[in-house]
Order: sequence, then C-alpha cells, then structure tokens
Amino acid sequence: MMGRTMGLYEQVHETAQAIRARAGGLSPKVGIILGSGLGDFAESFSDKVVVPYAELPHFPHASVPGHAGRLVMGRVRGEPVVAMQGRVHAYEGYTPAQVAFPARVLCALGLHTLVVTNAAGGVNLAFKPGDMMVITDHLNLSGYNPLNGPNDDRLGPRFPDMTTAYPAALQAQLLESGTRTGVVLKQGVYAILAGPSYETPAEIRMLRMLGADAVGMSTVPEVIAANHMGVRVAGVSCITNLAAGIGNKPLTHEEVAETANRVKGLFTRLLEDFLPTVARAGASKA
Ligand code: HPA
Repeated sequence: MMGRTMGLYEQVHETAQAIRARAGGLSPKVGIILGSGLGDFAESFSDKVVVPYAELPHFPHASVPGHAGRLVMGRVRGEPVVAMQGRVHAYEGYTPAQVAFPARVLCALGLHTLVVTNAAGGVNLAFKPGDMMVITDHLNLSGYNPLNGPNDDRLGPRFPDMTTAYPAALQAQLLESGTRTGVVLKQGVYAILAGPSYETPAEIRMLRMLGADAVGMSTVPEVIAANHMGVRVAGVSCITNLAAGIGNKPLTHEEVAETANRVKGLFTRLLEDFLPTVARAGASKA
C-alpha cells in the first residue's frame, strides 16, 4: 500500500492472508500462544509449516531470549492447529495494539478458540514452582489496553464485555484434560503488571490482597483483543517461581527459563490432549 496508512483491520487481514497462502491447506480453528520457555510444544506437530514472524507483513518480532519468534502450523492428533512460538511485550517498546496484533491475526484466520500460555510468578502461597494454573480471570494492572484509540466496528465493539473472558466451559475442558493426562492443575487469577522489572515484595502483597494468584507481564493484551473479536480464550500459566518476597531468593530470568524447561513435558502432555479435544468440540460447547 503506497501513500496511505493501512488501518488495523486491513493489516490484520493482509497478514492472515499471507499466512493462509503458506498454510498448505491447513485451516485451524484452534490457536495457541506459547509463552517464555514453552515454545517446544509446537515442535511435535505433524505436517509442520514454519513461518518466521520476520516474513509476515506487519508482524512484530520478539527480542527476548527464549522467544523463537515463529508461527508454526500443523496437526495435533490429526487436528489442525496454529501456534505462536514467542510473543512480544509492551516493555520491549511495542504499543499495546502491536502486542495484541498477532492474536488478532490468529483470530482472523477463523479460530473459535485461542489458548494463551505464559510463565508467571506464584502469588498464591499454596503454589510451587512447576505448578500449572488454569487462568480463571485476570487483573489488568498494566496501565494500558490494546483497544485504546479509535475503534473499528468490523473488528469488534467499542466496549467489549469481559464477564466471561475465560469461558467456564473451556476451563472445565482444561481440567478434564488435566485429569486424563495426570497433570495436576491449579486455578486462579492472573495479574499483569507492565514490567520489565520484577515486582517488589510490597507489590506482591498488594496483588494477593487484590485477589491475584499469579503475576506476569504478558497475555492480557491478547486476551482483550480476542474477546474484542468474539473468540473464546483458554489460559494456562506455568508457575516458574515464587513471586518476590515469598522465598528468600532474588528473582532471575534464568530461574523462569529453567522451570519452564523442566515442566515442558507435562505442559506438552496436557496440550496434546486439550487442543484436539477443543478443536473437535468446536465453538458450540462454551
Ligand atoms: N513476575 C513477573 N513476571 C514473571 C514472573 C514474576 O515473578 N515469573 C515469570 N514471569
């Protein structure tokens, strides 16, 4: 497009079209965003098609180590799926709308369900590093929102409802997958802060009083955008560390990466059951 800035709607659909052109006929109804250290899940897809983000128009590129920055399409137990290995964050300098852009593109591919995953600190005192948590709801304490700015009604409403941002039926299906695969799942509220500094112990005490069970720096922008576009969301946090002030250790990205690496087998087992189940059940079950 020359001479004129494309609107968000046009950009989303141009990128979705570029993906379709390379999808080898796959038409996924379920997509997943793989968080820090959790990208390996997509390696096990069959009929894999890999597209580096850098080859997609308008797509923001990841810069944090451990975020590969590629789109992987393929099949899990025969069901077509699309995965993002790595995401960008607002703390890298992207606008919240840019952070949510890839989720919008996945939704524009025709998904009925978007699965979001992340590494998070455990705020709930009963959580241990290595636990998995079904996200039941979120606290947007980032101070930003990806819908800030003019609304395009073709994408969604100006004031989208967030009452069922994580539909109960999908949470129940996740718990059933946990039971089938023997992966123990906690449940709780995910709070996002802007980062990139980790929280202070006082901030963690505040978050606990506010009802948070886990804390991170991602996911919420994508969840808001998917809800805006009428796509259902299921979320899983991998609790990689005790939040600040709970243990006596300083927090490091290395600990986050190590724990994510340690539990990726369990994580893969859960998702290998959940994704095809949700793909087969379709949008009707929620
Ligand atoms: N805080 C914020 N983000 C995180 C954490 C944390 O403790 N662990 C993994 N991501």
